[in-house]
Formats: sequence, C-alpha cells, structure tokens
Amino acid sequence: MNLSKEQIEKKVNKLMSEYGEIIIKEILAWGVVSDVYSAMLIDKTTKKQTNIVVKYTKLNIEKSKIFSKKDIEESFFNAQATQNLDILIQNILSSNTPKIIKHFPESSITVMYNFTDEKFKLLQTRLLEKDISINSAKKLGETLAILRKDLQQNVNIQIESSQSQFNERFLELKVLLYNWRMDFYNQIEEDFLQENKYITWTDWDPKNFAIDNEWESMVFDLGRAIKCDPDFMLANLLWHLWLFVIAGYLENNSIFLEKVIEWFLEKYKEFDKLYEIDEKKFVNYFTASLLHRWMAMRWIDPRIANIIWEDSLKYACIHFWDMVFDKNNSITTIKKLFLLLQEIQD
Ligand SMILES: Nc1ncnc2c1ncn2[C@@H]1O[C@H](COP(=O)(O)OP(=O)(O)O)[C@@H](O)[C@H]1O
Ligand SMILES: [Mg+2]
Repeated sequence: MNLSKEQIEKKVNKLMSEYGEIIIKEILAWGVVSDVYSAMLIDKTTKKQTNIVVKYTKLNIEKSKIFSKKDIEESFFNAQATQNLDILIQNILSSNTPKIIKHFPESSITVMYNFTDEKFKLLQTRLLEKDISINSAKKLGETLAILRKDLQQNVNIQIESSQSQFNERFLELKVLLYNWRMDFYNQIEEDFLQENKYITWTDWDPKNFAIDNEWESMVFDLGRAIKCDPDFMLANLLWHLWLFVIAGYLENNSIFLEKVIEWFLEKYKEFDKLYEIDEKKFVNYFTASLLHRWMAMRWIDPRIANIIWEDSLKYACIHFWDMVFDKNNSITTIKKLFLLLQEIQD
C-alpha cells in the first residue's frame, strides 16, 4: 500500500526523531511515481525552524496515471528502488544536487533542504516566467557534459531495463512508421541500445533541473538512468527546450539551443578531445522524442500543453516528423532540423 500524507508525516517523524519535529505542508509535485512535500523541521534542541522537502516514492503506481499496465510491469515495477539509485547517483556527481539531510532507503523517503531557500529556481519555472538568459544556455550545456562524464566514469547500475525504456520512449514512432520507414526505427533502436553504452540520464525534464541567480545549476531525480547510448542526452535536453520555444516561452528560437550545443561540446571535449556529434543520430532522437511527448501531454505543465496541443501545432508535429523521415530526402543535419522546425511553425 502507498502511504498517505498523514502516514508519511507520522513515519518521517519517527525516522527523524533525533533531529526534531517535522510538519508536512503542501504538496510540491504530485508525482505519478513520487509525492514531494514542502515541510518544516523544528530542531529538537534549538527549536529553530528550517524549510525542508520530503520525497516519498510509491510502492504501487496507479495504472491510470501511466500509459498502460504493460508500462507499469516493464518500467515502473520497482519505482522505490529508483529513488535509492537517484540518491546514490547524486552522491557521486560533481554537479550541485539538493542537500540531503537523511535518506531512508527501506522507506523510500528522502528528507532534504528546500533548494529555493538557496535561490535555486526550477528550470521550468524560470522558462515559464521568461526569467532566463543566454548565460543559462552555457550552464545547461556544461552541466550536461559534466553529468555525462560523471555517469560514464562512476555509475554502473540501473533499475529499469533499457529495452523497456526504449519501448516506452519510441512507441509512437514505431506505430507511425511503416513499410520502408521501419529502417529508421530499427536504426534508432540499434543506436539507442548499442553495445558501447553507458549509464545515461534519460529524464532531462526542466522539472529535474534548477538554476540560481548566478546561473549555477542543480540536478536531481536521476533514478531512471539506464544503460543506453549517451548521445541520447543532448537530443533529449534540446527537444524539451524546443517545447518552450514552440509555446512562445523561449525567445531567440534556435539560437538558445545552438548555444547549448556549443557549450556542451566545448566542455565535453575537455574529457574526450575527439568527440563529435553524430548529427543524423541527434536528428533521429530529437524527432522521435518530440513525437513521443506530443502524444503524452499529461506529463507537461498545462501552460505549455494547452498551447502545443492545439490542432494546428499537433499536425505541425506530425508533418515535421514526416519530413524528417522522408524516404528520398531525410533530414540529417542539426542546422536543417532547426530550419525545418522554424518553417513548420511560421
Ligand atoms: N530539495 C528540493 N527543494 C525544493 N523543491 C524540490 C526539492 N526536491 C524536489 N523539489 C520539487 O519537487 C518536484 C519533484 O521532485 P523530483 O525529485 O523531481 O520527483 P518526481 O520523481 O516526482 O519528479 C521538483 O520538480 C521540484 O519542483
Ligand atoms: Mg522529477
């Protein structure tokens, strides 16, 4: 059984009794998989009050909140373990992560400081408030490069299966591709699940990333990391950002995205001098992932979803997909991809 808010409060007070009293307040993110609450810690001796956050991951995920029963069986069957992996990864990263007060692996409960007290703001909030500068493109690119290097060097375990995540993330593509176009699908599957793979963060959601006023960055919620092609990460970050471009929240259109790529490359080449982006692969991942998200708006903040789910844009997405995977003239460069995105929107 999953714990209710009252049960979490009771449990966390028991677990944290040596620290003081905890009062759970409002829910910050009603997660499908986790519940994250803002809370107050009253120090046992000094009675000082500190803002904290309590994250609890559910034992059973509700079928109606995911896509299908199959998805739960294949991808989300051990969600509680993903929270433990998240904390394990956070501990080995050289980037900023939320400051953890105590993690209780048996209970899937993490108690941490509230990062908004340290002037960090969720990337999604910054984007929606248009409170973002081109300097954050630099930080995003650099953080991605460092994260990629850290995961490659220091992490070797995964909870979810790579194949099931592939199935989840590329299902729409599979359904829409037919006849000769299956070649594209097979190529993407081969690339994504290639032999030479590393633990990769496949969940670069702007709700899993925070930035402070000096553009310092913070990452969290990394428990869904799996072994797959690490090149997926850049495309995954950029199509998420593109949704904000489409919805009108990120101006300068592709310039911001091009800057992210430029800074990613600059930083990543410090670790791997010979690294080059495989542009065709980038185009494939970007397009397939964009299609996946377009079909599953429930995961997206309504302020963006309401705009990009309009009929005209929905069809623009299908049209875009159709042109990228054109039989005789498929798109193979990032420059052409961004130009096409611009064209179908205008
Ligand atoms: N330490 C923290 N301080 C402030 N807000 C937080 C903190 N940790 C999580 N949150 C908020 O809760 C949301 C969900 O947390 P996350 O760890 O991403 O869980 P989920 O698995 O539900 O996505 C985040 O997007 C952020 O808004
Ligand atoms: Mg999250």
